[in-house]
Parts: sequence; C-alpha cells; structure tokens
Amino acid sequence: MDEQDLEALADEIRRADATVAFTGAGISAPSGIPTFRDDGGVWERFEEGQFTYGRFRSDPVGFWRDRLELQRELFGGEYEPNAAHEALADLGRSGHLAAVITQNTDGLHEEAHEEVRAPADGETAILELHGNSQRAACDDCGFRIDGDEAFERAETGELPPTCDCGGVFKPDVVLFGERLPPAVLQRSRRLARESDVFLAIGSSLAVEPAASLPRNAAARGATLAVINLEPTPRDDDAEYVFREDVTDVLPALRSAVESA
Ligand code: APR
Repeated sequence: MDEQDLEALADEIRRADATVAFTGAGISAPSGIPTFRDDGGVWERFEEGQFTYGRFRSDPVGFWRDRLELQRELFGGEYEPNAAHEALADLGRSGHLAAVITQNTDGLHEEAHEEVRAPADGETAILELHGNSQRAACDDCGFRIDGDEAFERAETGELPPTCDCGGVFKPDVVLFGERLPPAVLQRSRRLARESDVFLAIGSSLAVEPAASLPRNAAARGATLAVINLEPTPRDDDAEYVFREDVTDVLPALRSAVESA
C-alpha cells in the first residue's frame, strides 16, 4: 500500500468539510458474503432474470423459491461487520465521515455504526440505495415485517409469504426493473455533488445509476479515491487508487486520519 498516498488522502479527509463513502459488495466480502461479479460470485450461480420485479409480479412462487435458494446458498451463515465497516464507523464517530452510501442490502453498515454511534459524535447518514434484505414489505399495502420472518414462512411452505391484505411480501430490496427509492437517490446525488472527498470502496462500478455517483463527485471537483481489488471504470478519474483489500486500507486510513 502506498504510504505516501495514504497520508495524503488522510490529510485531505482531515481538512474536508464533507467526506462520503460509497460501497459495494467488496466491503462485505471479508464478512463471508459473496460478491456479484467476482469468480464464484452470485451471477455465476444465478441469473439476474430470476430476480426481476416483473418475475416477482408474474410468478411470485418461482421468485420466492429461487430467492430462498439464493438466501440459503449465499447468505445462509450469520455474518458480522468486518474491520472495514468498523473503520468507516470510527471515521463517522470522529466526525470525518458525512455519509455512507451503499449498494449492499446486508445491513452491515447500519450494524457497525450502531455499535459506535453516540449522539455527541454526530450522525453519519447511512443511505441504502438498493434497500435492505433484513426487511420485507408487502408489495400492495407496504406493511413491513422482519426479513427473517418472511424467509421462515416461505421456508415452511408459505409460498409466497402473503400479507393479511392479500398482497405478497417482497424482500425490501430494489429488484431489477424497479426504480431506486427516489428520496434516497436524490439525497445520495446531493451528497456526492457536495462532497470534498469521495471514497469508492469495493465496487466494480458496473451498475447505474449508483455508478454515476463517483463520476459526478469527481466532475464537481471532489477528490476521488478508489479502493478495489480489480480495476474500475473510474480509476482514471481518481486521484488515489488502492488496489488492496478493504480490510487493510480502511483501518490504515482511519489510523492515519486520527493520528494527526
Ligand atoms: N477488498 C477490496 N475489493 C474487493 C474485495 C476486498 N476484500 N473483495 C472484492 N472486492 C472488489 C472486487 O474486485 C469487485 O470489483 O469488489 C468489487 C465487487 O464488485 P461487484 O461484485 O460487481 O459488486 P457491486 O459493485 O457491489 O455490484 C453492484 O450490482 O448486481 C447488482 O444489485 C447488485 O448492488 C449490486 C450491484
């Protein structure tokens, strides 16, 4: 890891009014959750077409059967925030991180920030662009239940899990063919536009509109840092590129920011 780059980025974060972290599946990979496009990733074993909103509406039984298999095979274990999530939460606690905008639906940022969050430390906004699979919502009336309850009901034969209103429960995530939650997307776009430092972490930056956030931040003059094991389409716009593991770079960056 380039120590000079790390120190320079840490200094920019210390001086910044607004540092924003943008994360993808790569930040949760060290917690044991597979990514989407790496070897052995989700899209090697499942098709995106199995999980579109159109399929959920036209074939809810088949959708839930496949979703159960995905949940069992890929997310079956208990998983915890890792050192990278905690380093971001610590930066929030020390007032150096205005927001985490995540594409992940695993809820691990929320969990990590809860552990260190104290009112006096100010609030780091956690924006879940693609929702959170720890919740499920009725697609007709919006009534929400715990995600585990929906999966348990489906697991024990209630296919699809159905709301008292007669509607079908859907994991509270953005399916292909669905719009991102407008309020979350607008706030994320504003945070990216107003950021002085924008950290793109553990994402292939392959999916729009999420991938437009680092591009727009850089275009508005933010310092862009990419932390990702593989090259991304934004590397050429970035002042800093760390081709290392998030669990190495982020704790080191947190220490460098807090050491001055
Ligand atoms: N440290 C750093 N980078 C890592 C690590 C790690 N430990 N592990 C994986 N990565 C990198 C990979 O090199 C890869 O480029 O994380 C990236 C993950 O990319 P994707 O699998 O494409 O995941 P993501 O960018 O989050 O996908 C975006 O696509 O399918 C949709 O809705 C889904 O939210 C997802 C979106």
